[in-house]
Amino acid sequence: MKIKRIGVLTGGGDCPGLNAVIRAVVKTAIRQYNYEVVGFINGFAGMIKKEYRLLTEQEVSGILHRGGTILGTTNRDNPFRYAVKENGELVFKDVSEQAIANLQELGVDALVVIGGDGSLAIANEFYQKGLPVVGIPKTIDNDLSATDTTFGFDTALTTASEAIDKLHTTAESHHRVMVLEVMGRYAGWIALHAGIAGGADVILIPEKPFTIEGACAKIKERASKGKKFSIVVVAEGATIKDGELVVQRVVKESHDSIRLGGIGNQIGEAIEACTGMETRVTVLGHLQRGGSPTAFDRILSTRYGVGGVDLVAQDKFGQMVALKGTDIVGVTLESAVSQLKKVDPDGELVHAAESVGICFG
Ligand code: F6P
Repeated sequence: MKIKRIGVLTGGGDCPGLNAVIRAVVKTAIRQYNYEVVGFINGFAGMIKKEYRLLTEQEVSGILHRGGTILGTTNRDNPFRYAVKENGELVFKDVSEQAIANLQELGVDALVVIGGDGSLAIANEFYQKGLPVVGIPKTIDNDLSATDTTFGFDTALTTASEAIDKLHTTAESHHRVMVLEVMGRYAGWIALHAGIAGGADVILIPEKPFTIEGACAKIKERASKGKKFSIVVVAEGATIKDGELVVQRVVKESHDSIRLGGIGNQIGEAIEACTGMETRVTVLGHLQRGGSPTAFDRILSTRYGVGGVDLVAQDKFGQMVALKGTDIVGVTLESAVSQLKKVDPDGELVHAAESVGICFG
């Protein structure tokens, strides 16, 4: 196919490195292939409402290190299930045909979707309908199975491990238990990596349901040996054995309506009751998504942006760029969205953590 103009959008939650990807897409498209680039505003909403801007090299100058996304994003606008209010009621409509017609009208020959599992599933649906689409994997959660890692994860993990370092000094001074709740949705990657990097005493992740007694036994054992403080890192999706996910809110219009959160406060209270030690809870929240990407994420984002446009130029539609070992490769969007990547509870990383005395509750 002779490509003249491509479209790019950022979908789902924002993530450090999005701007670095946009910059790489635009520079590669213009410099290597002489394509024009149209950036859709606020993810798929821009495609539906025809809100876009032409992206020149000038437009993407100076954004490599900037957090967020210059294009804006939302995780509410799925063209196959678009929420509209009718007579005060929320109803969902399929407006995908209109979105495709808008692309044709704008002369957009191919689309680059930068997103997590929700946005990539939408990209795949568009591909099934015949739209030439490629994907670029984004999420701080690192939960996409078709790639070794997603950009944004390293930055989130760095923020979380710095938070643990800070909690350590105040925990030690006050002889307290500090609970840190981190993001990650249904996977424990941020908690596990940050917990190891920060030297946590207890790490609680969704892949290893835990008991309060187990966590408290570790904290009491430390106290009996003179360590009168402990650090507990809990993933937002972790659950007590035979317990349920702790849900903060439901966002009906969103691709994934469940917003997790609250487990930190629950277990903080339970740990204080069972150990008798003063316990404080910190919820790290969106600090993990904000700010400047790490050098690792800037490099990975740049490689993904370049790789995404290369896929377009090679007519490899329906594919997503992925990191496999040290290589950037193409994998099918189908494989990218079919299964979430979870921590292996019996894997080497958990074994390494346990070997240095970290308890999983
Ligand atoms: O998927 C990224 C993520 O930050 C998750 O870790 C978290 O559960 C969710 O998004 C939060 O979503 P929102 O920004 O809508 O609160």
